[in-house]
Amino acid sequence: MKGVVSLTILATTAAAFEQVVLGQVDRGSEWTVFPHPIKRVAVIGAGPSGLQVAAELLEHNFTVRLFDRSPGPGGNWLYSEEYPTRESYPDTRLEDIIKPWVPGSLPHREYYLEGDDGLTLDYRWREHWQPSPVWWGLHTNSPTSITEMPDVPYPPDSPFAPHQKVVSSHVRAYATLHGLNVNDEPTVAYSTLVERIDKAGETWNLTLKRVKKIENVDLRTGAKQAALEAEWWQESFDAVVVSQGLEDGSEIARELEPYAKHIYVSSKDYDRSKLHPFRRRAFRRLPSACSVVAEVAEFRSLGNALNGIKDGKVVLKDGETLTGIDEVNIKLTYGCRSQLINASTRESDGRRRYRNVHWTGNYIPDPTLAFTNTRPWTTVRYQAYGLAKIWEGTARLPNEAELWRQYESARYTFFWDLWGTGRSEALLRQWVAWLNNESLQHGGRLVNHFPNSNREIFSYFMNWEIKEDYISYANFTDFEHVPAWQWGQDDLADALWHEDELEYGLW
Ligand SMILES: *[C@@H]1O[C@H](CO)[C@@H](O)[C@H](O)[C@H]1NC(C)=O
Ligand SMILES: *[C@@H]1O[C@H](CO)[C@@H](O)[C@H](O)[C@H]1NC(C)=O
Ligand SMILES: *[C@@H]1O[C@H](CO)[C@@H](O)[C@H](O)[C@H]1NC(C)=O
Ligand SMILES: *[C@@H]1O[C@H](CO)[C@@H](O)[C@H](O)[C@H]1NC(C)=O
Ligand SMILES: *[C@@H]1O[C@H](CO)[C@@H](O)[C@H](O)[C@H]1NC(C)=O
Repeated sequence: MKGVVSLTILATTAAAFEQVVLGQVDRGSEWTVFPHPIKRVAVIGAGPSGLQVAAELLEHNFTVRLFDRSPGPGGNWLYSEEYPTRESYPDTRLEDIIKPWVPGSLPHREYYLEGDDGLTLDYRWREHWQPSPVWWGLHTNSPTSITEMPDVPYPPDSPFAPHQKVVSSHVRAYATLHGLNVNDEPTVAYSTLVERIDKAGETWNLTLKRVKKIENVDLRTGAKQAALEAEWWQESFDAVVVSQGLEDGSEIARELEPYAKHIYVSSKDYDRSKLHPFRRRAFRRLPSACSVVAEVAEFRSLGNALNGIKDGKVVLKDGETLTGIDEVNIKLTYGCRSQLINASTRESDGRRRYRNVHWTGNYIPDPTLAFTNTRPWTTVRYQAYGLAKIWEGTARLPNEAELWRQYESARYTFFWDLWGTGRSEALLRQWVAWLNNESLQHGGRLVNHFPNSNREIFSYFMNWEIKEDYISYANFTDFEHVPAWQWGQDDLADALWHEDELEYGLW
């Protein structure tokens, strides 16, 4: 295919957001005091982490609504033959990327027939749900021992890194087990996009849009015809969890290689010697027909789009300009993550995935909003339990000053990401210690840390995959000689860090 160039950068998100008006919580106490009991919680995004949070909240008797624009559970792991509609060339300012049309008075319904306003029903449908980026040939890049949802084991003879079909079934099994699959209304609302999130007083107001395939019957002739129904409405909640996924740019580039003349991968200017070995692996896995270029500074306006996006100019931070690009693949980090968060509150150091988010996932300064900021499969179970406990009142969250203190401390710069670094092990231990400490004092079940056999498998897999001396079993056992009561302590975690600086690239 001549002249096909792809720029692999950034991902889709389960939901689109416009703005948030944050409310206040009581600031007088040593602990966060919520202004009123939290009973109704919205979970946005039904991927591996959103499902786990929703399941945990249900178990704790919250009234849960799980929203996803896709027609079923899975998030990124919902494979479909359908593909997204837009040519994703973001030639608008970041703030303007997502500007949903919401009818003036709600609730509201619209009906569409084939060809209305020059659009096919298929186009409208795909535009609404923006099919996920999983492609048929995808395999996971992490072993099942850390890519597993609780309660639904993989078949015992699954390979280390299974095909997406196996992973998708695994996620659907979890959704079914916890009453979060397609027919589990009213807990779930699939094909439902969150268009806006507003805070009105102490209440989160979500503006929602669902698109449904229906049949239109001509009353005169009785003839049936396919149609779409779009419906907008609002629902109110005491708390909201936003759950977003990630994509791996290097794997996408590998998949594209046979079809593209040239692929540009735009990436921050990392010091590769300081990268997490798993990220170094990602750079190594980039195909040869691929250039790593500087971070994107700007997508220049297309003017008219008669030529597709070929006339687009992508200006990079080192001054270079890319032109003649046929396709842009945007990963998460560029646009979507900041829609909900007031970026001016605290400076980003460029290494955090989310600004203003405490290690528990709670947004500072309004912890009735939370983000799943962990690697979903393995560790989100701790985060999900933590959020349920905080909101039901069986775990204490420090007051705002302490949340900021922890946020600013280098120790929490990385929400733990991958297993095996001193940092991620320290954070995991901290989660386990904190949860159990709170449960012993305020009630709740105790949690186990990961079994050592999982770590052993992980070590084999990583050293083999990464082709570097990456990890040994000892990396996981640093804490074994430390009394449990010290596990959550700052200075201990600091002492156990092996690396001064680790950069996390390409994701
Ligand atoms: C949820 O409610 C059920 C039924 O009232 C109760 O048995 C259970 O203990 C509650 N769960 C939690 C975590 O409070
Ligand atoms: C919030 O949503 C409710 C419906 O749940 C609606 O009646 C109300 O007007 C909304 N408030 C604001 C400020 O948007
Ligand atoms: C973001 O926060 C700043 C400082 O608190 C405030 O001045 C600004 O109005 C906020 N912006 C939005 C869009 O809420
Ligand atoms: C594992 O421990 C060794 C020895 O302390 C250290 O050099 C290495 O960086 C650790 N590996 C990771 C992934 O943190
Ligand atoms: C456990 O709770 C006690 C009492 O509130 C506190 O002093 C201690 O720091 C907590 N430990 C952890 C690991 O959270």
